[in-house]
Amino acid sequence: MGRDVIVACDFASAEKVYEFLDKFTERKPFVKIGMELFYAEGPQIVREIKKRGHKIFLDLKLHDIPNTVKKSMAVLSNLDVDITNLHASGTIRMMEGALEGLTRPDGTRPLLIAVTQLTSTDQESMENDLLIKEPIDKVVMHYAHNAKLAGLDGVVCSPLEAGKVHETCGKEFLTITPGVRFADGDIGDQKRVMTPAQAKEIGSDYIVVGRPITAAEDPVAAYNRCVAEFCD
Ligand code: C5P
Repeated sequence: MGRDVIVACDFASAEKVYEFLDKFTERKPFVKIGMELFYAEGPQIVREIKKRGHKIFLDLKLHDIPNTVKKSMAVLSNLDVDITNLHASGTIRMMEGALEGLTRPDGTRPLLIAVTQLTSTDQESMENDLLIKEPIDKVVMHYAHNAKLAGLDGVVCSPLEAGKVHETCGKEFLTITPGVRFADGDIGDQKRVMTPAQAKEIGSDYIVVGRPITAAEDPVAAYNRCVAEFCD
């Protein structure tokens, strides 16, 4: 899979997401299904969106003991998604278990991506709440390296970290980057943002874009603009 725009479908119901996806009559976007929609509608929503011809990033961020994650990944593998993820802080053993669970009998599997430190965690909360005293960018790179050692395919990170992740873990190691905004658009609650063109320049493999597309007056035009800036 090459560079692509993933649309974060942060809707609370199947009805709302179908109403949104129905607008796309030509190119079918790669979509991200998160916890909100998955917990509201169950696995059927994944099967249905897949049937409509979309690629799917199932963003459930698993984190549990290795055996539980392995078995849960085996279940998710049956849903035939294209990308799924977990927390790197669950340890290398947990990530290895996840990979094992995700791999189907014929050797195929969805791409497996790690979350390093959430962008909602800052240096202060990491030190005080988690008692991790290292600089946060060092922690992010260490977790990315652990994900690579465990055999994972890449990490979710800020577009500002994508270049460093590629330097540390290699060019083939995928970076999926949220926090993307158009140069003339609203930033909203995101803090460190980049335009699709800048994300391309810095070497992001996939950008995850939510509200700049889902809340746009013309979502299809906003999506096409993202694709033109990032993919072409
Ligand atoms: O609407 P917006 O473009 O900000 O949506 C970004 C998407 O990426 C949301 O689904 C958000 O939960 C997700 N995300 C993020 N930052 C991370 C990880 C995921 O914004 N570090």
